[in-house]
Amino acid sequence: MSDTTAITERGDTTQPTAEHAYITFRGVDKAFGRQRVYQGLDLEVQRGETLCVIGPSGVGKSVMLKMLIGLLPTDAGEIWFDGQLVSDIEEDQDYLPVRRRIAMVFQGAALFDSLTVYENIAYPLREQFSLPEDEIARRVAEKLEWVGLPGIEQMKPAELSGGMKKRVGLARGIATDPEVILYDEPTTGLDPVNTKRIGDLILSLSDRMHCTSLVVTHDMSTVFQVADRIAFIYDRRIRAVGPTEAMRSSPDALVRGFIEGDPAPFED
Ligand SMILES: Nc1ncnc2c1ncn2[C@@H]1O[C@H](COP(=O)(O)OP(=O)(O)O)[C@@H](O)[C@H]1O
Ligand SMILES: [Mg+2]
Repeated sequence: MSDTTAITERGDTTQPTAEHAYITFRGVDKAFGRQRVYQGLDLEVQRGETLCVIGPSGVGKSVMLKMLIGLLPTDAGEIWFDGQLVSDIEEDQDYLPVRRRIAMVFQGAALFDSLTVYENIAYPLREQFSLPEDEIARRVAEKLEWVGLPGIEQMKPAELSGGMKKRVGLARGIATDPEVILYDEPTTGLDPVNTKRIGDLILSLSDRMHCTSLVVTHDMSTVFQVADRIAFIYDRRIRAVGPTEAMRSSPDALVRGFIEGDPAPFED
C-alpha cells in the first residue's frame, strides 16, 4: 500500500456510498465462459468530471461501458446511476430511459452509409422522441455546429474524411442531449491533428453540455489533454484511480509504466 492519499488503491478502507455517487461500480464480476474479465470492479464517477479509463487491449474497457448501459449483463455486484440500481434492470426496454441519458459514442463512427449526415444525426431523435421536423432540423444543425461541421447536412458518409466521420458520429451520439457521454476509443486511426481536435471537442462539449464524460482510450495525449482523473484497469479490476498528475507520479511502477509507455514493468 502506498501512502499517496490522492490515489485510491484497491484495499482502501473507504467505503463508496453508492447511493450518493453519480455512477458507481461496486464489486462487479463479469466472465465470458471461463474467461474472467472482472473480479471485484470498483469505480466511482463524479457528476461533471471527465474520467479517462486506460488499460491494455482486451482488459475489459469496452465491456465496462457496455455493462453500464445494459448492453452486457453483470454476473455479480452492483452498478448505480444517479441513485438507481441499474444493474438489477431485467427487461431491455427498462434500460431505455438510462440509455436516453447516457450516450455511447462507438468505436468507429458506424454511420449508415446510405443515409445523409442529416438522417444519421436525426436517427436517434426519431427513434426516441416524436418531434416536428423543424425541431429535428434545428437540433441536427446545432449538433453539427457543436462538432465544428456546420452545414454539411446533405453530405453522405462516403464524402467525409475519417476525422469528419468521427465528428458526425459524435454529433449523432449527442443528438438527444445526454447527461453522460461514453467515448470508446474516440481517436483510433486518427492523425495527431485530428486526435487533438477530438480532444478539444470532448472538452468543449463537456463545458457546453455540463455532461459527465468517460473516455476509454490508450492515446495518452488525449488523456493528458482532457482528463480530470484517470482510472487504470489491470488484472480484472481498477488497479489505481486518481487525478492525472498523481497518477503520473504513482508509486505503482505498472501505472507509471503504462502512462509513460514504458514496457519494462509489463514483462514477466
Ligand atoms: N460479447 C462478448 N462475448 C465474449 N467475449 C467478449 C465479449 N465482449 C468482450 N469479450 C472479451 O472480453 C475481453 C475484454 O474485452 P473489451 O472490453 O472489448 O476489451 P478492451 O479493453 O480492449 O475494450 C476480451 O478478451 C474480449 O474478447
Ligand atoms: Mg474496447
